[in-house]
Amino acid sequence: MKEKRMERGWNLVTGATGGLGGAFVQVLAERNEPLFLTGRSEEKLANLKAQLQEKYPELLVEYTACDLTDSEDRTRLVSALRTACERYGVSLKRLINVAGADIQKPLTEYTEQKLLFQCRVNFESAVSLARSSIEQGVKEIINISSVSGIYPMPYFAIYSATKGALTSFSLSLREEMRGAGVKVTAILPGAIPTRDDVKEQIKGQGLWGKIAAKPPRFVAEKSLLAVSKNKGKVVVGFANKLMNFGTKLIPLPIKLKFIAGRWSKIRKDSF
Ligand SMILES: NC(=O)c1ccc[n+]([C@@H]2O[C@H](COP(=O)([O-])OP(=O)(O)OC[C@H]3O[C@@H](n4cnc5c(N)ncnc54)[C@H](OP(=O)(O)O)[C@@H]3O)[C@@H](O)[C@H]2O)c1
Repeated sequence: MKEKRMERGWNLVTGATGGLGGAFVQVLAERNEPLFLTGRSEEKLANLKAQLQEKYPELLVEYTACDLTDSEDRTRLVSALRTACERYGVSLKRLINVAGADIQKPLTEYTEQKLLFQCRVNFESAVSLARSSIEQGVKEIINISSVSGIYPMPYFAIYSATKGALTSFSLSLREEMRGAGVKVTAILPGAIPTRDDVKEQIKGQGLWGKIAAKPPRFVAEKSLLAVSKNKGKVVVGFANKLMNFGTKLIPLPIKLKFIAGRWSKIRKDSF
Protein backbone atom coordinates (compact mmCIF):
# COMPACT_ATOMS: atom_id res chain seq x y z
CA MET A 1 0.00 0.00 0.00
CA LYS A 2 1.31 3.44 -0.89
CA GLU A 3 2.10 5.89 1.82
CA LYS A 4 3.78 9.30 1.67
CA ARG A 5 7.39 9.17 2.87
CA MET A 6 7.90 10.61 6.29
CA GLU A 7 10.87 11.25 8.55
CA ARG A 8 12.29 8.13 10.27
CA GLY A 9 11.36 7.80 13.91
CA TRP A 10 10.38 5.35 16.65
CA ASN A 11 7.10 3.49 16.52
CA LEU A 12 5.91 2.92 20.06
CA VAL A 13 3.75 -0.20 19.76
CA THR A 14 1.74 -1.32 22.79
CA GLY A 15 0.41 -4.88 22.78
CA ALA A 16 3.38 -5.75 20.57
CA THR A 17 3.40 -9.30 21.95
CA GLY A 18 -0.21 -9.90 20.87
CA GLY A 19 -1.84 -10.84 17.58
CA LEU A 20 -2.62 -7.44 16.11
CA GLY A 21 0.38 -5.72 17.73
CA GLY A 22 2.57 -8.46 16.22
CA ALA A 23 1.17 -7.69 12.76
CA PHE A 24 2.03 -3.99 13.17
CA VAL A 25 5.51 -5.04 14.20
CA GLN A 26 5.96 -7.24 11.11
CA VAL A 27 4.67 -4.61 8.68
CA LEU A 28 6.84 -1.87 10.19
CA ALA A 29 9.90 -4.13 10.33
CA GLU A 30 9.54 -4.82 6.61
CA ARG A 31 9.57 -1.05 6.11
CA ASN A 32 12.69 -0.75 8.27
CA GLU A 33 10.90 1.56 10.70
CA PRO A 34 12.46 1.78 14.19
CA LEU A 35 10.43 -0.17 16.73
CA PHE A 36 9.98 0.51 20.42
CA LEU A 37 7.95 -2.42 21.69
CA THR A 38 6.02 -2.96 24.86
CA GLY A 39 3.97 -5.68 26.52
CA ARG A 40 3.93 -7.12 30.02
CA SER A 41 6.27 -10.05 29.43
CA GLU A 42 9.99 -9.33 29.35
CA GLU A 43 10.58 -12.82 27.95
CA LYS A 44 8.15 -12.46 25.04
CA LEU A 45 9.61 -9.06 24.19
CA ALA A 46 13.19 -10.35 24.28
CA ASN A 47 12.24 -13.25 21.97
CA LEU A 48 10.45 -10.90 19.61
CA LYS A 49 13.45 -8.59 19.45
CA ALA A 50 15.79 -11.54 18.79
CA GLN A 51 13.55 -12.84 15.97
CA LEU A 52 13.36 -9.40 14.39
CA GLN A 53 17.08 -8.82 14.58
CA GLU A 54 17.80 -12.18 13.03
CA LYS A 55 15.49 -11.44 10.10
CA TYR A 56 16.24 -7.71 9.82
CA PRO A 57 19.81 -7.12 11.06
CA GLU A 58 19.65 -3.38 10.23
CA LEU A 59 16.39 -2.79 12.09
CA LEU A 60 16.42 -0.61 15.20
CA VAL A 61 14.47 -2.46 17.93
CA GLU A 62 14.17 -1.62 21.61
CA TYR A 63 11.66 -2.78 24.20
CA THR A 64 10.51 -2.16 27.73
CA ALA A 65 8.15 -4.45 29.63
CA CYS A 66 5.32 -2.47 31.17
CA ASP A 67 2.00 -3.17 32.83
CA LEU A 68 0.03 -0.36 31.24
CA THR A 69 -2.53 -0.40 34.06
CA ASP A 70 0.17 0.83 36.43
CA SER A 71 0.95 4.55 36.18
CA GLU A 72 4.44 4.16 37.67
CA ASP A 73 5.23 1.48 35.10
CA ARG A 74 3.99 3.80 32.36
CA THR A 75 6.30 6.53 33.64
CA ARG A 76 9.21 4.07 33.39
CA LEU A 77 8.17 3.22 29.83
CA VAL A 78 8.05 6.86 28.78
CA SER A 79 11.41 7.50 30.36
CA ALA A 80 12.97 4.44 28.60
CA LEU A 81 11.61 5.73 25.31
CA ARG A 82 13.09 9.18 25.96
CA THR A 83 16.46 7.57 26.68
CA ALA A 84 16.28 5.61 23.39
CA CYS A 85 15.47 8.82 21.50
CA GLU A 86 18.55 10.51 22.95
CA ARG A 87 20.83 7.50 22.58
CA TYR A 88 20.08 6.91 18.90
CA GLY A 89 19.23 10.48 17.90
CA VAL A 90 15.87 9.18 16.65
CA SER A 91 12.68 10.93 17.68
CA LEU A 92 9.25 9.46 18.38
CA LYS A 93 7.24 9.31 15.20
CA ARG A 94 4.21 7.16 15.86
CA LEU A 95 2.26 5.84 18.84
CA ILE A 96 0.21 2.73 18.15
CA ASN A 97 -2.11 1.94 21.06
CA VAL A 98 -2.98 -1.71 20.50
CA ALA A 99 -2.99 -3.25 23.99
CA GLY A 100 -6.44 -4.17 25.20
CA ALA A 101 -8.52 -6.75 27.05
CA ASP A 102 -11.78 -8.12 25.70
CA ILE A 103 -13.26 -9.53 28.90
CA GLN A 104 -16.88 -10.41 28.26
CA LYS A 105 -19.33 -11.16 31.07
CA PRO A 106 -22.06 -9.41 33.10
CA LEU A 107 -20.91 -6.65 35.43
CA THR A 108 -22.12 -8.69 38.42
CA GLU A 109 -19.47 -11.31 37.68
CA TYR A 110 -16.55 -8.83 37.70
CA THR A 111 -14.23 -8.34 40.64
CA GLU A 112 -13.21 -4.74 41.32
CA GLN A 113 -9.65 -5.62 40.31
CA LYS A 114 -10.69 -6.97 36.92
CA LEU A 115 -12.98 -4.04 36.28
CA LEU A 116 -10.17 -1.56 36.86
CA PHE A 117 -7.76 -3.65 34.80
CA GLN A 118 -10.03 -3.59 31.75
CA CYS A 119 -10.84 0.13 32.03
CA ARG A 120 -7.19 1.03 32.48
CA VAL A 121 -5.65 -1.05 29.74
CA ASN A 122 -8.34 -0.24 27.18
CA PHE A 123 -8.72 3.47 27.85
CA GLU A 124 -6.60 5.11 30.56
CA SER A 125 -3.29 3.82 29.19
CA ALA A 126 -4.05 4.97 25.63
CA VAL A 127 -4.97 8.45 26.81
CA SER A 128 -1.95 8.65 29.09
CA LEU A 129 0.47 7.53 26.34
CA ALA A 130 -1.12 9.93 23.87
CA ARG A 131 -0.43 12.82 26.25
CA SER A 132 3.17 11.87 26.94
CA SER A 133 3.81 11.06 23.26
CA ILE A 134 2.58 14.48 22.17
CA GLU A 135 4.94 15.97 24.74
CA GLN A 136 7.73 13.97 23.03
CA GLY A 137 6.84 15.29 19.58
CA VAL A 138 4.91 12.33 18.13
CA LYS A 139 3.53 12.84 14.61
CA GLU A 140 0.92 10.09 14.33
CA ILE A 141 -1.31 8.32 16.85
CA ILE A 142 -3.30 5.18 16.05
CA ASN A 143 -5.83 4.07 18.64
CA ILE A 144 -7.14 0.55 18.17
CA SER A 145 -10.77 0.74 19.14
CA SER A 146 -13.48 -1.66 17.92
CA VAL A 147 -16.84 -1.83 16.16
CA SER A 148 -18.02 -3.15 19.54
CA GLY A 149 -17.72 0.43 20.82
CA ILE A 150 -20.19 1.89 18.33
CA TYR A 151 -23.24 0.87 20.37
CA PRO A 152 -23.66 -0.06 24.02
CA MET A 153 -23.29 -3.81 24.39
CA PRO A 154 -25.00 -5.52 27.31
CA TYR A 155 -22.84 -8.36 28.73
CA PHE A 156 -19.83 -6.82 26.91
CA ALA A 157 -20.49 -3.51 28.58
CA ILE A 158 -17.05 -2.53 29.86
CA TYR A 159 -15.34 -3.46 26.62
CA SER A 160 -17.91 -1.61 24.58
CA ALA A 161 -17.84 1.47 26.82
CA THR A 162 -14.05 1.69 26.92
CA LYS A 163 -13.75 1.27 23.14
CA GLY A 164 -16.53 3.82 22.60
CA ALA A 165 -14.67 6.20 24.90
CA LEU A 166 -11.43 5.58 23.01
CA THR A 167 -13.05 6.43 19.66
CA SER A 168 -14.62 9.55 21.14
CA PHE A 169 -11.30 10.61 22.70
CA SER A 170 -9.48 10.03 19.42
CA LEU A 171 -11.84 12.22 17.45
CA SER A 172 -11.61 15.02 20.01
CA LEU A 173 -7.83 14.82 20.17
CA ARG A 174 -7.58 14.87 16.37
CA GLU A 175 -9.45 18.17 16.39
CA GLU A 176 -7.29 19.56 19.21
CA MET A 177 -4.16 18.62 17.26
CA ARG A 178 -5.31 20.13 13.98
CA GLY A 179 -2.60 22.51 12.82
CA ALA A 180 -0.13 21.12 15.36
CA GLY A 181 1.24 18.47 12.99
CA VAL A 182 -0.16 15.48 14.88
CA LYS A 183 -2.47 13.05 13.09
CA VAL A 184 -4.84 10.95 15.19
CA THR A 185 -6.89 8.01 13.94
CA ALA A 186 -9.26 5.61 15.66
CA ILE A 187 -9.43 2.19 14.05
CA LEU A 188 -12.61 0.19 14.50
CA PRO A 189 -11.98 -3.40 13.41
CA GLY A 190 -14.56 -6.16 13.50
CA ALA A 191 -13.28 -9.60 14.39
CA ILE A 192 -9.57 -10.29 13.83
CA PRO A 193 -8.39 -13.91 14.02
CA THR A 194 -5.61 -13.45 16.56
CA ARG A 195 -5.93 -15.75 19.61
CA ASP A 196 -7.43 -19.26 19.36
CA ASP A 197 -10.57 -18.29 21.31
CA VAL A 198 -11.23 -15.42 18.88
CA LYS A 199 -10.72 -17.76 15.92
CA GLU A 200 -13.27 -20.17 17.46
CA GLN A 201 -15.73 -17.34 17.97
CA ILE A 202 -15.34 -16.26 14.34
CA LYS A 203 -15.93 -19.86 13.21
CA GLY A 204 -19.09 -19.93 15.29
CA GLN A 205 -20.40 -16.90 13.39
CA GLY A 206 -20.53 -18.95 10.18
CA LEU A 207 -20.77 -17.02 6.93
CA TRP A 208 -20.78 -13.64 8.68
CA GLY A 209 -17.52 -14.49 10.44
CA LYS A 210 -15.96 -15.48 7.13
CA ILE A 211 -17.01 -12.27 5.41
CA ALA A 212 -16.42 -9.77 8.20
CA ALA A 213 -13.26 -10.99 9.93
CA LYS A 214 -10.05 -9.43 8.65
CA PRO A 215 -6.50 -10.76 9.14
CA PRO A 216 -4.26 -8.84 11.57
CA ARG A 217 -1.92 -7.76 8.78
CA PHE A 218 -4.80 -6.30 6.78
CA VAL A 219 -5.92 -4.28 9.83
CA ALA A 220 -2.36 -3.08 10.52
CA GLU A 221 -1.81 -1.92 6.93
CA LYS A 222 -5.19 -0.18 6.77
CA SER A 223 -4.43 1.57 10.07
CA LEU A 224 -1.04 2.87 8.89
CA LEU A 225 -2.53 4.12 5.66
CA ALA A 226 -5.47 5.73 7.46
CA VAL A 227 -3.32 7.67 9.91
CA SER A 228 -1.03 8.85 7.12
CA LYS A 229 -4.15 10.40 5.59
CA ASN A 230 -5.26 11.74 8.99
CA LYS A 231 -8.61 9.92 8.87
CA GLY A 232 -10.67 10.45 12.01
CA LYS A 233 -12.12 6.98 12.39
CA VAL A 234 -12.08 3.97 10.16
CA VAL A 235 -14.35 0.94 10.34
CA VAL A 236 -12.23 -1.85 8.85
CA GLY A 237 -13.64 -3.94 6.00
CA PHE A 238 -16.57 -3.50 3.66
CA ALA A 239 -18.89 -5.92 5.53
CA ASN A 240 -18.32 -4.11 8.83
CA LYS A 241 -18.87 -0.72 7.16
CA LEU A 242 -22.13 -2.02 5.68
CA MET A 243 -23.27 -3.38 9.04
CA ASN A 244 -22.39 -0.10 10.73
CA PHE A 245 -24.41 1.82 8.18
CA GLY A 246 -27.34 -0.60 8.09
CA THR A 247 -27.76 -0.87 11.85
CA LYS A 248 -28.02 2.93 12.17
CA LEU A 249 -31.57 2.55 10.88
CA ILE A 250 -32.59 0.16 13.69
CA PRO A 251 -33.92 1.82 16.89
CA LEU A 252 -31.48 1.52 19.82
CA PRO A 253 -33.81 -0.42 22.20
CA ILE A 254 -34.23 -3.12 19.56
CA LYS A 255 -30.47 -3.24 18.99
CA LEU A 256 -29.84 -3.56 22.73
CA LYS A 257 -32.32 -6.45 23.07
CA PHE A 258 -30.71 -8.24 20.14
CA ILE A 259 -27.17 -7.72 21.44
CA ALA A 260 -28.15 -8.80 24.98
CA GLY A 261 -29.68 -12.01 23.62
CA ARG A 262 -26.57 -12.75 21.63
CA TRP A 263 -23.92 -11.93 24.25
CA SER A 264 -25.60 -13.12 27.47
CA LYS A 265 -24.41 -16.70 26.88
CA ILE A 266 -20.78 -15.84 26.20
CA ARG A 267 -18.05 -15.62 28.83
CA LYS A 268 -14.51 -14.48 28.01
CA ASP A 269 -11.84 -13.64 30.51
CA SER A 270 -8.30 -12.34 30.53
CA PHE A 271 -5.69 -10.73 32.73
N1 LIG B 1 -9.06 -9.72 17.98
C1 LIG B 1 -10.17 -9.11 17.67
O1 LIG B 1 -11.15 -9.72 17.18
C2 LIG B 1 -10.31 -7.62 17.88
C3 LIG B 1 -11.37 -6.94 17.28
C4 LIG B 1 -11.48 -5.56 17.47
C5 LIG B 1 -10.55 -4.90 18.22
N2 LIG B 1 -9.53 -5.59 18.81
C6 LIG B 1 -8.57 -4.85 19.63
O2 LIG B 1 -7.27 -5.06 19.11
C7 LIG B 1 -6.31 -5.00 20.16
C8 LIG B 1 -5.41 -6.23 20.09
O3 LIG B 1 -6.18 -7.40 20.11
P1 LIG B 1 -5.53 -8.84 19.91
O4 LIG B 1 -6.60 -9.72 19.40
O5 LIG B 1 -4.26 -8.71 19.20
O6 LIG B 1 -5.27 -9.22 21.44
P2 LIG B 1 -4.15 -10.14 22.10
O7 LIG B 1 -3.52 -11.04 21.10
O8 LIG B 1 -4.80 -10.74 23.30
O9 LIG B 1 -3.05 -9.07 22.56
C9 LIG B 1 -3.28 -8.20 23.61
C10 LIG B 1 -2.01 -7.44 23.85
O10 LIG B 1 -2.26 -6.49 24.90
C11 LIG B 1 -1.23 -6.62 25.86
N3 LIG B 1 -1.72 -6.29 27.19
C12 LIG B 1 -2.82 -6.75 27.80
N4 LIG B 1 -2.92 -6.23 29.02
C13 LIG B 1 -1.85 -5.43 29.19
C14 LIG B 1 -1.38 -4.63 30.25
N5 LIG B 1 -2.03 -4.54 31.41
N6 LIG B 1 -0.24 -3.93 30.08
C15 LIG B 1 0.45 -4.02 28.91
N7 LIG B 1 0.06 -4.76 27.87
C16 LIG B 1 -1.07 -5.45 28.01
C17 LIG B 1 -0.80 -8.08 25.79
O11 LIG B 1 0.50 -8.19 26.29
P3 LIG B 1 1.02 -9.42 27.19
O12 LIG B 1 2.04 -10.10 26.35
O13 LIG B 1 1.58 -8.76 28.36
O14 LIG B 1 -0.15 -10.28 27.52
C18 LIG B 1 -0.86 -8.33 24.30
O15 LIG B 1 0.32 -7.89 23.69
C19 LIG B 1 -7.10 -4.90 21.45
O16 LIG B 1 -7.15 -3.55 21.86
C20 LIG B 1 -8.48 -5.37 21.05
O17 LIG B 1 -9.50 -4.83 21.86
C21 LIG B 1 -9.37 -6.93 18.65
